[in-house]
Amino acid sequence: MAFVRVASASRLREGNLVEVEVAGRFVAVCRSGGAIYAMDGICPHSGGPLGQGALHGTAVVCPWHAWEFDCRTGILDYNERIRVPTFAVRIEGDDILADLP
Ligand code: FES
Repeated sequence: MAFVRVASASRLREGNLVEVEVAGRFVAVCRSGGAIYAMDGICPHSGGPLGQGALHGTAVVCPWHAWEFDCRTGILDYNERIRVPTFAVRIEGDDILADLP
């Protein structure tokens, strides 16, 4: 794919985490520290919906068993070998665009 719209920048406030479905793929989009991040929305543990979890600082917390992934890198907090794919983000007007594979 390429850069595709995933959310509205003005509606994604600081500390927000949302789940977006784009062409059948779930993406977790969040705003932390004024920056916007996008990562794959499916937890590598057991498939939990990361975009329905919580955001604690830069940690996306899976709602099923509370694994925590850094939204900047996708890396699991206690095992850096486990990583959720992250996607480059750019803003055009009010659109958040993510570079989805
Ligand atoms: S499915 Fe995400 S922590 Fe278990």
